[in-house]
Amino acid sequence: MSRLIVVSNRVPAPEPGTPPAGGLAVALSGAMKERGGIWFGWSGRTLPAGQDEPEAPELVESDGVTYGLLDLGERDLDDYYAGFSNRMLWPLFHYRMDLTEFTRVNLGGYYRVNRLFAKQLLPLIQPDDIIWVHDYHLIPLAAELRAAGLQNRIGFFLHIPFPPHDIFTVLPNHADIVRRLAAYDVVGFQTPPDVENFETYVRREGVGRRLPDGRFLVYGRAITVDDFPVGIETQVFATTAASANRHALVRRMRESLEGRKLLIGVDRLDYSKGIAQRIQAYETFLTLDEMWRGRCTYLQVTPKSRGEVPEYVAMEREVAELAGRVNGAHAELDWTPIRYVNRTVSRNTLAGLYRMAHVGLVTPLRDGMNLVAKEYVAAQDPEDPGVLLLSRFAGAACELEGALLTNPYDVDGTAGAIVRALEMPLDERQDRWRRMFERIRDRDVAWWRNNFLEALERPAPEATRPG
Ligand code: G6P
Repeated sequence: MSRLIVVSNRVPAPEPGTPPAGGLAVALSGAMKERGGIWFGWSGRTLPAGQDEPEAPELVESDGVTYGLLDLGERDLDDYYAGFSNRMLWPLFHYRMDLTEFTRVNLGGYYRVNRLFAKQLLPLIQPDDIIWVHDYHLIPLAAELRAAGLQNRIGFFLHIPFPPHDIFTVLPNHADIVRRLAAYDVVGFQTPPDVENFETYVRREGVGRRLPDGRFLVYGRAITVDDFPVGIETQVFATTAASANRHALVRRMRESLEGRKLLIGVDRLDYSKGIAQRIQAYETFLTLDEMWRGRCTYLQVTPKSRGEVPEYVAMEREVAELAGRVNGAHAELDWTPIRYVNRTVSRNTLAGLYRMAHVGLVTPLRDGMNLVAKEYVAAQDPEDPGVLLLSRFAGAACELEGALLTNPYDVDGTAGAIVRALEMPLDERQDRWRRMFERIRDRDVAWWRNNFLEALERPAPEATRPG
């Protein structure tokens, strides 16, 4: 079996002797452990001022996996990470043309850092290795590796949405980006609509088409383009949730609820997550239905993220003010409607909180997949499951047809859906939950990984033809 090289912007920091946390990290490092390989990417550290380029990646062995960690210069991080990746690609791919900021300087930094990744990675690659590149930060990486003569199979998986043609073409260098995407052998998206968007793009721009064998011909290269919906470690998470009552924090939370019903939202502080709209919907729900006042609590766990990007700083203030205003307007002496927490909570504790919550609020304005939705489902007690209130604009909505779907832009509609979720009879909750659970059990993160790797290792049809 060939070795697996995984490349991502952020590498789950290996703590000596500790296995990685999080389903995706477990699934990928599990494969590397089995086949041998390297997880390569940014170390999370900045080079000392005055040094532009790292000499070589730091190689760290942890739990049977080698990590190749690259320190990056401040200017590179500004242009490539905070700039082009997170002020152009991230907002645009989440349909937020209003928030994009395109500069040639950032674009130059994006290509420069991808070149740097290629240069530093090349000496570590052996001829039989397969390479799996992750997410929007690294779209041009395969093209850089190919330019250096690399023939290996290279796959790319986009964790975020691929936008429709009219939105994608707002990107001034859209053609270049797709040309570079065509340097991969397999391009994976989260959902069928993402694949459709890609297909429409290549057709309308006249740069490609679907071949009779199902692959795509893009800029003259035949590549596999398909949907590979990412999953979670379903059984592990379900078991963790079932025993989470052992954790003091989970028990304290239950006691502090004093019998009230819990609604939970867990998101990185990001404008794509629809947190402000969700709080507004919850406020509308409180005013709509007097009966629920004082009888439920909404816990919003929101670790801060990307503080180096101005739009994130602005929304941090907006959401904090909104949560404060709603609490000020509706709280009683002995009841706070919203508990808003800006810190990370351990996965074990989260599993327990999900299980305790009667409603999981997952209402992004746009999301590639959203694994919180799947984790909420996995954590439920099959005898008395909670209700998942899910945005129709999350990739997970393509799979979780047992969820209560909502349009997060429709604040009144979402408020009504909260009432419906809280009042849903047990048999309907069980039926919806069972359908969702079966799906995420059958298509867990190992299924996703194996499916992608199988596509990546499948020889191209030409190669299998006799003669
Ligand atoms: C999303 C992206 C990931 C990214 C993560 C955290 O899930 O798809 O690629 O790593 O957000 O964002 P950050 O900018 O902190 O790495």
